[in-house]
Amino acid sequence: MSGHEAGGLKESGERFSSSGFILAAIGSAVGLGNMWKFPYITGLYGGAAFFLMFIVCMVVIGLPVLLAELAIGRGGRGSVTTSFIRLSGKKSWGAISFLSILAPFFILCFYSVVAGWTIHYAIISFTGKLYASGDYAGQFSAFIGGWLPVLWHFVSMLVTAAVIMKGVSSGIEKFNKVFIPGLIILLIVLMIRALTLEGAGEGLSFFLRPDFSKITTESALVALGHAFFSLSLGMGTMITYGAYVDKRQSLGSGALAIGAGDLVYALLAGLIIFPTSAAFGLEASQGPGLVFVALPAAFGAMPFGAFFGGLFFLLLAFAALTSTVSLLEVPVAFLKDTFGLSRNASAAIAASLIFLIGVPCALSVGGAAPGLTFGGKTLFDWFDFILSNIVLPLGGFIVTIFVGYAWKGAAEEAGLRAGWFRLWLFMVRFVAPILVILVLLYSAGIIRF
Ligand code: TRP
Repeated sequence: MSGHEAGGLKESGERFSSSGFILAAIGSAVGLGNMWKFPYITGLYGGAAFFLMFIVCMVVIGLPVLLAELAIGRGGRGSVTTSFIRLSGKKSWGAISFLSILAPFFILCFYSVVAGWTIHYAIISFTGKLYASGDYAGQFSAFIGGWLPVLWHFVSMLVTAAVIMKGVSSGIEKFNKVFIPGLIILLIVLMIRALTLEGAGEGLSFFLRPDFSKITTESALVALGHAFFSLSLGMGTMITYGAYVDKRQSLGSGALAIGAGDLVYALLAGLIIFPTSAAFGLEASQGPGLVFVALPAAFGAMPFGAFFGGLFFLLLAFAALTSTVSLLEVPVAFLKDTFGLSRNASAAIAASLIFLIGVPCALSVGGAAPGLTFGGKTLFDWFDFILSNIVLPLGGFIVTIFVGYAWKGAAEEAGLRAGWFRLWLFMVRFVAPILVILVLLYSAGIIRF
């Protein structure tokens, strides 16, 4: 790599190896979205039918947008704004894409809080404290209603910043190379445990046997939104990672591997959570409570539960941390690129700000600090609501318009053969932006079906 090209991301060592890139991208995609949000919304929107729609959305919209983001990153070889400006030759695209830098910054403010909860739960499960009282709901609300989540949020940001400071190849890549394969082994162990529980079959058929009458417009739109969230799209993550990808890497097969990887983790999460819930007669649609309340109840009632529970929360923490790492890299690359700051300084500044903004989020959700609830939603809920439902689809829309209409070199960078390329362009130009706008208007409450 020639060292004299403009932009901080050109430094040697700022490159993923081929397998490192795939693992890091899967690490970003696989997170609380797969193991906490996916089972909960699947439970809420009809089980297998929803799962099927999620797969369709991932293939039809998610993969084309994922490929578009990777191509923008590799073509531009810079942070999000730098890449948009370089590829279009217009400063205005830099301003438009700035949204994709703010979004991961603010997402981290609450995502890191939940990541912190999982670290806490891993520890209290291993020590057995989680199972002492038997009142899991009370224990969870006492925990999030106190100050302890702030400490764990701090720990989560500290670990994230430390990984980012190590740099792309030695930090992000090594971190993911260890945890992503480790994660799948832990999940398979837990899946075997879950599937052999008495009464597991009912949960299994809820998850895998579709009831098509449960498909509604709303559930289709939720499935689409979650495809974005789960693949880490619409917020510059995959653009930033794309900038570190080698020219020889096929982006098409990379996108396929990331999509397949993300799906496998969601599938495994479903194969753990639904059979377990069914076996213990627990509601599959209870949201945050599903992981932090129902599963501890299940673990507490099974042999070696403290061990299996600890293992589960540990892997949830790892999955969350590989995602927080990818989220923090976006503003860090921006600070480096735009202000010429060092990687360490950028990481320290971004992580400190995120920690501070996350504190009121952490305290609002359990009611520890008064006055942080507005219009029926806590500050934490507002962050999640606005970012997941509005900003993220908007970021995805910008990407499709940019690649479909503004950037002439997209074809070459994506490196697809003629037939695939035409299909991809059709998706990116027409199908994806229209569907994304529908999601956006729907989640903003402007249209109702
Ligand atoms: N995809 C991750 C998950 O499923 C979360 C995530 C990481 C994300 N980076 C992102 C979501 C960028 C949207 C955009 O938990």
